[in-house]
Amino acid sequence: MKIFNTVLAVTTIASACLFSATAGAQTYPDRTITMVIPFSAGGPTDTVARLVAESMSKDLGQQIVVENVGGAGGTLGAGRVAQAHPDGYSILLHHIGMATSASLYRKLAYDTLNDFEYVGLVTDVPMTIVARKDLEPTDLKGLVDYIKANKDTVTVANAGIGAASHLCGMMLMSAIDTQLTTVPYKGTGPAMTDLLGGQVDIMCDQTTNTTKQIQAGTIKAYATTSPERLKVLPEVPTAAEAGLDGFQVGIWHAIYAPKGTPAAVTERLSKSLQVALKDPNVVARFAELGTVPSPDSDATPAALKAKLESEIVRWKPVIEAAGQYAD
Ligand code: MLT
Repeated sequence: MKIFNTVLAVTTIASACLFSATAGAQTYPDRTITMVIPFSAGGPTDTVARLVAESMSKDLGQQIVVENVGGAGGTLGAGRVAQAHPDGYSILLHHIGMATSASLYRKLAYDTLNDFEYVGLVTDVPMTIVARKDLEPTDLKGLVDYIKANKDTVTVANAGIGAASHLCGMMLMSAIDTQLTTVPYKGTGPAMTDLLGGQVDIMCDQTTNTTKQIQAGTIKAYATTSPERLKVLPEVPTAAEAGLDGFQVGIWHAIYAPKGTPAAVTERLSKSLQVALKDPNVVARFAELGTVPSPDSDATPAALKAKLESEIVRWKPVIEAAGQYAD
């Protein structure tokens, strides 16, 4: 009889858990959601996240609060969400660094492919090679010559190993076969402050952070990493036009949830993301900043899973060739 009672008790508890998870998923969301951004406020990831979070909040009927958790190239913030309760009330908006960090870091606090559930892709942002406005070179060839002639003093800002700015800077140094002093920040928001102030010389950063400054003439732009010139920066050549063939990189952004978050919840979040990416305000603001929203077909868990897996494979040899790792 005792065994029967035990089985009955275990079955009851399991059913209750399943019911509460199912019920939770059915009434989701019924309270504020936290969206972790793994970089400082005021930077490109933060800009994308706040636009999307505001629109998703309207669709979901619950506030999405953005929390900036910077450090270690985005891996601290990603680790925070990997450890969060898988109930749909903690989500992560991160970018290509989710894929590159898997190869760059020898010890990550999380398993990139097994500690998250997928919601969907958000946008793919081009980058720009920029400098403090009083740097002498007037074009990319002149900048490369200047960098080689001053390699012991030129400083490159980035947001830490694993950041998009780190990846692009690493690609630039590999392309011109020159190692430079890098200055890490918790995000390219604060890095931009120092570039504007002339405390650091160059940076490779996303158009969502550089477009307005380039248009205002407060920083100098040498090239974009896009295949074609950007409508918002028509006078800035692509890196290929300017002599750096094959120097293309897009910073794809996506939303994740902790492993174990119910599929009904990630699907609800994906549907809300698709609504937000068609919000006229989001579309217009993305366009002003040089990017476009992902299509519905990409703003899905399956599309993001495939993207992350393929990008880890793609960037691993590039990172190994550059030989830049973090312990
Ligand atoms: C940021 O939001 O600060 C940037 O995405 C950092 C980076 O990845 O370069």
